[in-house]
Amino acid sequence: MSDLLKTEGLTVSAEDKELLRGVDLTLGKGETHVLMGPNGAGKSTLGCTVMGSPEYKVTGGRILFDGEDITEESADKRAKRGIFLSFQDPVEIPGITLSEFLRNALEQQTGQRIKLFEHKKNLAAAMSVLGMDESYAGRDLNVGFSGGEKKKAEILQLLMLKPRLAILDETDSGLDVDAVKVVSKGIEEYKKSVGGTLLIITHNAKILEELNADKTHILSNGRIVREGDGQLAFDVLADGFEKYIEEV
Ligand SMILES: Nc1ncnc2c1ncn2[C@@H]1O[C@H](COP(=O)(O)OP(=O)(O)OP(=O)(O)O)[C@@H](O)[C@H]1O
Ligand SMILES: [Mg+2]
Repeated sequence: MSDLLKTEGLTVSAEDKELLRGVDLTLGKGETHVLMGPNGAGKSTLGCTVMGSPEYKVTGGRILFDGEDITEESADKRAKRGIFLSFQDPVEIPGITLSEFLRNALEQQTGQRIKLFEHKKNLAAAMSVLGMDESYAGRDLNVGFSGGEKKKAEILQLLMLKPRLAILDETDSGLDVDAVKVVSKGIEEYKKSVGGTLLIITHNAKILEELNADKTHILSNGRIVREGDGQLAFDVLADGFEKYIEEV
């Protein structure tokens, strides 16, 4: 069994609207995949559904993770299995610091509370990889963070939690040069030190260049309409979606 994630005929609704209309997606262990598609295609919906967000109702098909059916599982359980989703718009959480947030998330994942001393040591190491000032660890999660700083906090989670499957939902706009570098560097480090599987939603040329993706999937109107190798992502960027979207 070399597939880590497999969705089979996945149909998903929210508020009685059908958003995904039969999505078959397979990610092999250790592979890097890119998910592209026009605005409103359902990319974030797919990411949230795999993560188990209760907002999205699976009305048909199933989700397999490492061969096990997780379609009905809670987001908590999925996180424990090692599924991670970074949101397109990270939420601000007043009253909990970045450091506490990560310590809690690690406890949830492993069932054990890591010693504060050890946690701080690991956190400082991960922050230095991202060139992040240590003072951010003591700030409330994402509160008052700039776009680039939120990005760093998100990639820090990736490096600390070491998920088996990382789904990164990147914003199309608003990523400055620094943020793009952080994402690229974080992904490189994640691949190197964790060797996990990555599904990244992005249209950013610079990120795509660094990724060296195995596969590209194009989602349109709730369906995957085209699949190809890593080069397809660049072709789409150069030519636009129109050419690659055959209505089914
Ligand atoms: N909770 C919800 N309730 C109702 N409709 C929703 C909900 N979430 C998303 N949608 C709708 O589903 C469609 C797909 O949205 P989604 O956010 O998945 O698109 P996307 O491909 O991520 O787009 P973008 O590139 O703009 O991020 C959109 O028409 C959106 O309005
Ligand atoms: Mg989206």
